[in-house]
Amino acid sequence: MRFKDQVVVITGATGGLGSDAARGFAREGAKLLLVDRDDGTELAAELGAQFHRADVTRDADVAGYVAAALAVFGRIDVFFNNAGIEGRIAPIMELTEADFDAVMGVNAKGVFLGLKHVLPVMVKQRAGAVVNTASTASHVGSPGLGPYVASKHAVLGLTRVAAVEVAKLGVRVNAVCPGPTETRMIRSLEEQAGARGLNDARERYMAGIPLGRYCTPAEITAAVMFLSSSDASGMTGTHMLVDGGRTGAPSSSAMR
Ligand SMILES: NC(=O)c1ccc[n+]([C@@H]2O[C@H](COP(=O)([O-])OP(=O)(O)OC[C@H]3O[C@@H](n4cnc5c(N)ncnc54)[C@H](O)[C@@H]3O)[C@@H](O)[C@H]2O)c1
Repeated sequence: MRFKDQVVVITGATGGLGSDAARGFAREGAKLLLVDRDDGTELAAELGAQFHRADVTRDADVAGYVAAALAVFGRIDVFFNNAGIEGRIAPIMELTEADFDAVMGVNAKGVFLGLKHVLPVMVKQRAGAVVNTASTASHVGSPGLGPYVASKHAVLGLTRVAAVEVAKLGVRVNAVCPGPTETRMIRSLEEQAGARGLNDARERYMAGIPLGRYCTPAEITAAVMFLSSSDASGMTGTHMLVDGGRTGAPSSSAMR
């Protein structure tokens, strides 16, 4: 019960990683505000949580979910800043301005707005922990994933800046970097690669992972909960890779 009575806000909470983390935090006693652009009332009911619908790319929506958390619970102890999209897979030469803006809007601006509105709450409390969802794409390039890779590099940059800005104010900011993980998102990437004629995308992804498999959402949740807990009190401005060894392995990609 590491999070007994702590208030945890999760964005992208109805998705694969967000919903697994919600269940993990709930099991350890947290009070949850689940945020997503999709409906999360069923999940919230299952977990005895609150649900707040919001688009993380809109400043007013982000201010709205922070206000909702304060109205219901009066504080925010943990913020899992996790909503993200993969966007369209194609070489940079084929991508449009709209393709780039869509991915940067959710993955980079959404994370920025979350930090902008949640950090003042935590600074006022002189306590809090943030985990931003970055990726192995924060560390390596992958053909076809230009906007996504750019956005996830941005998440690590924001993590480092935010961490040093609030380090002396009682707030820690870290990132989790999942490798390919069993959720809707990796299925979409496989399907898009397949549609571009790479029918063995799954095998190619797996071939680049020394463990020989995708991670499970539970393996990502374990890292998120560790970084959010007092066990990680000495960690800020850094990241944890949970990627089956992918970034330490010789480069491999579904798009080659
Ligand atoms: N699954 C993987 O292989 C993998 C690997 C590395 C990083 N990630 C990252 O993990 C995070 C979670 O992804 P996932 O795998 O659970 O995918 P997912 O598609 O299951 O979940 C993403 C969630 O974010 C929500 N969302 C998207 N745009 C939003 C917006 N504008 N406002 C509010 N909510 C929005 C979606 O509705 C969805 O519930 C993302 O940031 C993703 O980039 C995933």
